Amino acid sequence: MSSTSVNSPSAETKLEVLDLTPRIGSQVEIDVAALLSGRCATEIRDLLERRGVLVFRGLHLDDAQQRAFTRTIGELMPQGDDGLLRITLDKAVNAAAAEYLKGSFYWHIDGATDDAPTRASILNAKRLSATGGQTEFSNSYAAWDELPDTVKKSVADLRVVHSVETAQWLVNPTPSYEELSRWRSHAPKAHPLVWTHKSGRKSLVLGCTASHVEGADTDESRMLLRELTEWATQPCFVYRHEWKVGDLLIWDNTGVMHRVTPYDPESGRLMTRTTIAGEEPLARGHEAGGF
Ligand code: OGA
Ligand code: MN
Repeated sequence: MSSTSVNSPSAETKLEVLDLTPRIGSQVEIDVAALLSGRCATEIRDLLERRGVLVFRGLHLDDAQQRAFTRTIGELMPQGDDGLLRITLDKAVNAAAAEYLKGSFYWHIDGATDDAPTRASILNAKRLSATGGQTEFSNSYAAWDELPDTVKKSVADLRVVHSVETAQWLVNPTPSYEELSRWRSHAPKAHPLVWTHKSGRKSLVLGCTASHVEGADTDESRMLLRELTEWATQPCFVYRHEWKVGDLLIWDNTGVMHRVTPYDPESGRLMTRTTIAGEEPLARGHEAGGF
């Protein structure tokens, strides 16, 4: 672990940063007032893109503060309770989402079937499960950068079809006709396997929504997707967060995949989540196209 300070023009906006692993994850020391002031928003955004996940320990933000912090970083998505979602598997609290959220036990990016997946998500730990419930993140920029050149060349132009249905089969292998119809009401989306960002950096786009490589033999494309996913989620690319109540964590949804280790739906685990709207389409110009 190494402790670094991010260079910035004025001393009062310097963040105290501790890298948690070499390739992904940094812990940021900042008090609530400074965080909400927005003074460090530019540094936080920059650090987020470079480090994939930022951890703020023990902030204990309330709902209004979480929304306010989110607005300093980007555009708060209008979802849930004035931009704030309650993430729980407890059907009594969030019946509609509880089933669907079990998909988060598998590596994924949020909004994988959207043209411009959400930019970042912010999770705030309110109640934890006695076992499980750690959240893991893998750096898909590093996973691309470190692929052998021969593999890069052979996969660079592939497109992968993503669907909600593909993820939901993992959660529920015996859906009712009505459930399957509901999954299929979300249109699948073909994305480039390699996201070339506005910055010029590239990242791999995988996850449990990935169904098959467009135009390829299904069996072969399944093998390739497994191989790449195994590569991208090997321990050197992963940061695992052991939560404490009051932790706030933000991840760059355009440059990392994430999953939560399984936990008991009855455990009472509750996170509040705010989301920053997508800022750049996954496919640009000539790469774009529907399913
Ligand atoms: C999510 C998600 C993981 C968790 O909110 O998108 O995947 O740890 N959450 O609850
Ligand atoms: Mn998620």
